[in-house]
Amino acid sequence: MLTLEENELLTRTGPGTPMGELMRRYWLPAVLSWELPEPDCPPVRVKLLGEALVMFRDTQNRIGLLDEFCAHRGTSLWLGRNEQSGLRCVWHGWKYDVNGQCVDQLNERGGTSFAQKIRIKSYPTVELGGVIWAYMGPPEKRPPPPRFGWTQVPETHRHASKVIQECNWLQALEGGLDQSHVGILHSTLRVDANTPGSTPTSFNARGGAPIFDIESTKFGHRYVTIRPLGQEQIYVRGYNFVMPFTQIRPYSPKSESDAAKKFNPGHMWVPIDDENCMVWNWMYSWGEEPLTEEDRLDRNLANGPEDVDQKTFRSLRNKDNNWLIDRQAQRTQNFTGIVGVNTQDRAVQELQGRIADRTREHLGPADKAIITARQVLLEAVKAVQAGEDPPGTDTSYYRARSAVKIMPAKSSWREAILPEMYPADELES
Ligand SMILES: [Fe+2]
Repeated sequence: MLTLEENELLTRTGPGTPMGELMRRYWLPAVLSWELPEPDCPPVRVKLLGEALVMFRDTQNRIGLLDEFCAHRGTSLWLGRNEQSGLRCVWHGWKYDVNGQCVDQLNERGGTSFAQKIRIKSYPTVELGGVIWAYMGPPEKRPPPPRFGWTQVPETHRHASKVIQECNWLQALEGGLDQSHVGILHSTLRVDANTPGSTPTSFNARGGAPIFDIESTKFGHRYVTIRPLGQEQIYVRGYNFVMPFTQIRPYSPKSESDAAKKFNPGHMWVPIDDENCMVWNWMYSWGEEPLTEEDRLDRNLANGPEDVDQKTFRSLRNKDNNWLIDRQAQRTQNFTGIVGVNTQDRAVQELQGRIADRTREHLGPADKAIITARQVLLEAVKAVQAGEDPPGTDTSYYRARSAVKIMPAKSSWREAILPEMYPADELES
């Protein structure tokens, strides 16, 4: 349970809020590279931490991330013309370069002296892993680029997508860190169910409620779930939470041989404003095996192009149509009657309300990862207020991975998974 004050502190990320100041110390994923496919292509709108922005790729392939609104009369530059190294407002022809400097005004005579005095807000960007990232914090505090493992492999070995979730960012993050719901919310009622999820024979369902092991790391925390599979074996899953909103999650194997796959998926839950967030989904292969086209459809989670409108990034099953819940299927096929693992997550989390009221909750031992994440976030807010650097603004997370193992119950899970999660040999090279 949180106090009303703590809940407000953790959920509000607009300019000038304590959590907003913390968020502005990190690189934020803003736009998929394919949304701006070539120089001088149409601009896109992007809203981050309550700030309305517009992004464009100029003639020289430079990215501009500017205040959405023209400094003249305040209409949207999203309507603008992206031409000759600048974005031009269609109303009176004021034109801005990638730094937000006004370079031309078609409605004024007499040179550029007035234009030179006009500059709108602009933020630096970096393009990595097929994503354009933004930094909205103090220039002198800009951290090194967000070189997560998944951004460092060839395009053939990685995939990223995004989908809007219609609630505050923190409950989406907490919903992802919460591992005890997986074998329940996402369960199917039969092995041959016609919807994806944890089948009755899956490792998650067989193992029942997990045992947790949580430790803080330089960049956030790592948590491991351990589920017994009968007397002889255990099913171990190791996760990393990277501040402030990233989860590196283990792959969900369907069989013992599948568990050897060198795949890591994950999410980033990024505030759009206080009542909406963008859920970024990524997956990569750190072994030799590339991703397939099927992997990129992300059908299990329902985050791919078949399930999410690729212009608005709204899920086709959403709050307005009750996520297409099918009560008959809820009796015969799966626990929820809703199709898609992450659609199920969005349904329960969106119905907590736009901003969940944490003064009324009753957390138990199974909610340890959530409780720890809140502590890490609250401490990081205080660190920033004290003029210190918050966790995860260094390079300590660059090599962090997740891991999954099915192993003898008697052997040490630490020895089995920690070297894979934190590959020291790679850190030294
Ligand atoms: Fe879930």
